[in-house]
Amino acid sequence: MGINANGRPATRVVKIRVRRYDPETGRRWWQEYRVEAKKGTTVLDALLKIKAEQDHTLAMRYSCRMGACGSCGMLINKMPRLACETQLLELGTDTVTIEPLPNFPVLRDLITDFGDFFKKHRDIMPYIVRESKKENEEPYREYYMPPDELNKIIRYSYCIMCGLCYAACPVVAIDKKFLGPQALGQAYRWVTDVRDEGLRLRLEKVDDKHGVWRCHFAGSCSAACPKGVDPAQGIQLLRSKLVALTAGARRDKKPTHVATPTTVRYVDVGDAPKPTVEDKSLLVKHLEETAQELEQDLPYVAQALRDYLRTITSS
Ligand code: SF4
Ligand code: FES
Repeated sequence: MGINANGRPATRVVKIRVRRYDPETGRRWWQEYRVEAKKGTTVLDALLKIKAEQDHTLAMRYSCRMGACGSCGMLINKMPRLACETQLLELGTDTVTIEPLPNFPVLRDLITDFGDFFKKHRDIMPYIVRESKKENEEPYREYYMPPDELNKIIRYSYCIMCGLCYAACPVVAIDKKFLGPQALGQAYRWVTDVRDEGLRLRLEKVDDKHGVWRCHFAGSCSAACPKGVDPAQGIQLLRSKLVALTAGARRDKKPTHVATPTTVRYVDVGDAPKPTVEDKSLLVKHLEETAQELEQDLPYVAQALRDYLRTITSS
């Protein structure tokens, strides 16, 4: 697929099968469309073309069209992906299937309800918590974060709340109360933030049978994440913080320096750290076994695990 005889990008007609749902009638069905695609045509472009030219009733959610807002998550060829970042021709199939994200209630066609997902995110208090009530209610100072401290959490700060990790999680599929990889990954981000003093408050929320201990470390969340956040790793690190706290550790991070805004210097902290799952052989064995177990019921999760396996074994 490249340039055609007229010097224009070559095009190909792709069959698109969309899983539809009409909440008024309760009807669910598959609908097929055909779209001309060329290099660079994304799944979102194709859906918008269908909506404009073939079927205005087709419903999907999107906003930025550049992988930043997290609105356009869908199950594309059985994998949770961002529609605006997925190129049709790169999928390599003549027929592309598009479904709403699993693990979310469907509102209409490809639009899912994120209410529960956002609530879980709010539950872990995704903001700086200070011990002083006055400071929490009327913040008046700025807290200095040294670059090496920022490096510890920057990977988790890239989360755009797209829900792909949540859709890929086999535990969320069987336990709707499970906080899920996004909220737990963010809990780790905030308890590790040197400016934060809400460690115990947050750990009370995650130290629960539907919290950090429910994770099976399938790793499918990290494989699905389009931003390289690695929530599976965050959950393991959160567990070790809990264990350390139970074992009597009094403070696991240095207190931050308080600075007036004029004395704060911003420093370029460079790229996010590489994924750091250390014991690859154990992880590889575990992921292979889990992928086999899930093959039948959750093929997209099994596929996500195999893709993740390939990335960690080739690095
Ligand atoms: S952790 Fe990754 S996959 Fe999960 S919501 Fe955040 S950006 Fe999306
Ligand atoms: S439209 Fe914003 S991430 Fe896809």
